[in-house]
Amino acid sequence: MAEGDSNNTNGSVDREITEGNVQNVTPWTATTGSEATFDYQRLIKQFGTTPVDEELIKKYERITGKKAHHLIRRNVFFSHRSLDDILDLYEKKQPFYLYTGRGPSSESMHLGHLIPFMFTKHLQDIFDVPLVIQLTDDEKFLWRDLTLEEAHHMAIENAKEIISIGFDINKTFIFTDLNYIAQSREFLSNVLKIQKCVNLNQAKKVFGFEDTDNIGKVGYPAVQAATAFSNSFPFIFGGRPDISCLIPCAIDQDPFFRVTRDVAPRLGYQKPSTFYSSFFPGLEGPGSKMSASIPTSSIFLSDSPKTIKDKINKHAFSGGKDTIEEHRKLGGDTTVDISYQYLTFFLEDDEALAKIKKDYESGELLTGYLKKELISILQKIIKDIQDRKATITDEVVQEFMKPRPLNFKFMSTNINY
Ligand code: TYM
Ligand code: TRP
Repeated sequence: MAEGDSNNTNGSVDREITEGNVQNVTPWTATTGSEATFDYQRLIKQFGTTPVDEELIKKYERITGKKAHHLIRRNVFFSHRSLDDILDLYEKKQPFYLYTGRGPSSESMHLGHLIPFMFTKHLQDIFDVPLVIQLTDDEKFLWRDLTLEEAHHMAIENAKEIISIGFDINKTFIFTDLNYIAQSREFLSNVLKIQKCVNLNQAKKVFGFEDTDNIGKVGYPAVQAATAFSNSFPFIFGGRPDISCLIPCAIDQDPFFRVTRDVAPRLGYQKPSTFYSSFFPGLEGPGSKMSASIPTSSIFLSDSPKTIKDKINKHAFSGGKDTIEEHRKLGGDTTVDISYQYLTFFLEDDEALAKIKKDYESGELLTGYLKKELISILQKIIKDIQDRKATITDEVVQEFMKPRPLNFKFMSTNINY
């Protein structure tokens, strides 16, 4: 870890801090310690990422010619690494690609997983660039109590949900590590080159590996890193090693990309840019991260309309007061009310959201109203995904997973096949 943003290697796990009951965020856990909510400013400092500020949002709007997406306006995508470079490339009509992924650890994804994919779809629509989606069946096999077949099966099921979010087959390559690494000498070459650049000591510092961890875990980060280098996909980029990449995801994934950015110049590659979101909270309250392993915390993309309604009515933490009289007098607290928090992710209309906030805080609206609004919005979003998923056959998944040239306009002049 010689240079750049990368000197800060204590980002993900700091044992003294964890024991002091302070927040701990790694790709595998996210806890707030003794605080009620995550302190994202602190996380920015600790990881060494850059905040998204007004100036960057203005530049984004100027260059794309569009109002920034509500998840940017509301500071959900709140931090980044060299996003400016990508905007500059787009302005100059230079090529880049998008990369995101999923560790298939459950049959169905939850709303927290939906956030980066929804956002990535939006970026694909506005930038009109290729997208690669990595499904890390190898990672989940190594970390979880799953067989390779189970992890791979979940990757395929997750791919159906991901496709149902609306990705364009002509611009999107989806792969599972297990299948693609076995067939790509180029990808495996990058994995090996990355592995040779990082020693065990560095890996322990960034990821917090223990001596009892299996050795597969130690090697895995190179697989997540290799996807950020364009010559891992010769059928898309014609073997060019220098096409930049933008990675939208939640900030828990930063340790991987800190390492990736470190090794890139040593291998003669571009450092990938990243665009990070905060965590979509679990139903139990704002200081949690929605997590598939806590069933009462999560709403899944496979939940029925009734299950969605019941989960929200029963489990969504309320910022309302104990009695109606008190609530009418003092108003509700939007900073902790989970229904309000979820509306900030899914209700796009700024005016409607502002009115709900005002009327809830004044005591005019009760939590029940917020829940009702949220239930109908989520039932629709999830039903649309389910309806599309019903039409996604194994053949469609195979089409998305076939290595093939992708179709993109503004790059075609820059790439020679
Ligand atoms: P995974 O499957 O844990 O998560 C998939 C994506 O969802 C994000 N995410 C969340 N976002 C908001 N709120 C939440 N509560 C929440 N929980 C998860 C994650 O940040 C991620 O973007 N190792 C990765 C797989 C991976 C990957 C990547 C992810 C490989 N390459 C490149 C992002 C970018 C994983 O297991 O993600
Ligand atoms: N590492 C992620 C997890 O454990 C899955 C993942 C793979 C991913 N590639 C990605 C997430 C790219 C975001 C972007 O869940």
